[in-house]
Amino acid sequence: MMGNQHYQEVEDRFLAKTYQKIPVLAAKAKGTRIWDAEGKEYLDLMSGYGVAILGHSDDLVISAIKKQLDEIYITHASVYSPTRSRFLQDFMTIAPPSMRSIYLSNSGTEAVEAAIKMAIKATGRQKIVSMERAYHGKTAGALSITHSSKYRKSFQPLLMKDVEFVKFGDTEAIRGALKKGDVAAVFLEPVQGEGGINLPPEGYLQSVRELTEESGTALVVDEIQSGLGRTGKMWAHQHWNIVPDIMTVGKGIGGGIPMGLTVAGKTFAETLEIGEQSSTTGGNPLACAAGSAVVERLRRGYVEMARDNGKYFLQRMEEELGKHRLVSQPRGIGMMLALELRIRFLPVLMNLIDRGIITLYSGINTIRMLPPYILSRDEIDYAVEEMKNVMDRQLNGGGSS
Ligand SMILES: Cc1ncc(COP(=O)(O)O)c(C=O)c1O
Repeated sequence: MMGNQHYQEVEDRFLAKTYQKIPVLAAKAKGTRIWDAEGKEYLDLMSGYGVAILGHSDDLVISAIKKQLDEIYITHASVYSPTRSRFLQDFMTIAPPSMRSIYLSNSGTEAVEAAIKMAIKATGRQKIVSMERAYHGKTAGALSITHSSKYRKSFQPLLMKDVEFVKFGDTEAIRGALKKGDVAAVFLEPVQGEGGINLPPEGYLQSVRELTEESGTALVVDEIQSGLGRTGKMWAHQHWNIVPDIMTVGKGIGGGIPMGLTVAGKTFAETLEIGEQSSTTGGNPLACAAGSAVVERLRRGYVEMARDNGKYFLQRMEEELGKHRLVSQPRGIGMMLALELRIRFLPVLMNLIDRGIITLYSGINTIRMLPPYILSRDEIDYAVEEMKNVMDRQLNGGGSS
């Protein structure tokens, strides 16, 4: 293997410049750790943007993929597959009980596209209500209901024009938006991820459910980031006891093999007909085999692990950083965590990388974390201690370590 610099230079030359790069090269990974080409070790609180929920290179996922590679790894969904059929059955054991059908694709944004089509077709309406600070992906339809202007501005007017954004958490705003009875769907993330780890106020999701029901509007919960145990329950919306009409799933479900799911309840299960949605590689056996392994892990203690470790992580941040002069608020639920700062996140994020800790960010002043659920208490203590060191250093004039 060559040094880090070689690989970075090649990527910088040829990879389309659509990603905000950070100075980390991931050459190898296991569990909560990543190593670069020169052997530097990182503690990974980013987990590939929330994909490595079980930790990197999980043994069960690896053996499921290896076994599948020896059997068959390409099958279009027009052909039946034992592996796909097993995955569908497995997934149904963890799906909310109201769910009846699953459309399989390759990414979160594709799962959202299918949900938009279901809602429009089933209701015969065009308008979508989405939330301020929502993130639902960047394909043309999903981008129409993603809020941030930095993603939207170069493409206005977007393909879907009849979209209204309301404030997340404001019941009156949603009541107003649904008044005319012309809304196909309300899309929301039960806990907003990219928008900064924002929890809904008590009673809000229940009100949205009641109001959408009254107006014949589909309630679509985007669980792409918050689902699969991330918040300490299998699905984040279950903290607030609501029953959605449609749910989108992505990120960790394929154990790192690209996979997206659009899961529909009774009213929407048969909305899309033959040819109205498809994907050449959606539901491929490799993703399905890995998906069954992920479900197996989630059924055997990983959700509780996310709940307990996340609670400990938040508690440690509150204790060590809650009163720090540069911190405005640690917050989160389960392993969906944020540290909102009174300063820009960038120097803090870069200093953490220097010290071997990789995090995410939101907006301009929030450090965001989507760690693997298996993070140990020692690793949490270490991460919080390093965050405190970095914040102290910033307070005393900054500079990298
Ligand atoms: C809530 C939510 N919806 C949709 C997406 C888009 O998923 P993908 O990047 O797999 O297309 C994401 C990705 O971060 C997400 O967090």
